Amino acid sequence: MTNKTFTMIKPDAVANGHTGNIINDIIAAGFKIEAMKYLQLTQAQAEAFYAVHSERPFFRDLVNFMISGPIVAAILEGENAVENFRNLIGATNPANAAEGTIRKKYAVSIDANAIHGSDSDENAAIEGNFFFSSFERF
Ligand code: CMP
Repeated sequence: MTNKTFTMIKPDAVANGHTGNIINDIIAAGFKIEAMKYLQLTQAQAEAFYAVHSERPFFRDLVNFMISGPIVAAILEGENAVENFRNLIGATNPANAAEGTIRKKYAVSIDANAIHGSDSDENAAIEGNFFFSSFERF
């Protein structure tokens, strides 16, 4: 079944020059790009996006990191998209990420972990709608 997920290439990976390689890995894995934009989040936007983590001890560091530089946000379409994309990017903590995954290749730390992937179909829809309107999708 083809469905959708949402991703962000995070500020560390953009700043370290990995944007092109990461997009290449995503396309090579068979995902189609439905929408994509390059932007820098405001503090209010980052807090809203990660509101589900607002009570976690890492929330402040996460928000500060995510507003520290530009990101690339995208909606991706592919077979079993949420699960297959999470397999492509690897474990949240790059120290635990499998060989060949995007986080293993490009991430720096658990906050600077190169890339985000939605954890459910429901969150993929919420997160995609957070960044993109209907006329920005192809
Ligand atoms: P992400 O998939 O974008 O979702 C929340 C982010 O919080 C996660 O990636 C990590 O970059 C960051 N984070 C920092 N510390 C933790 C932690 N202990 N557990 C989960 N996520 C963490």
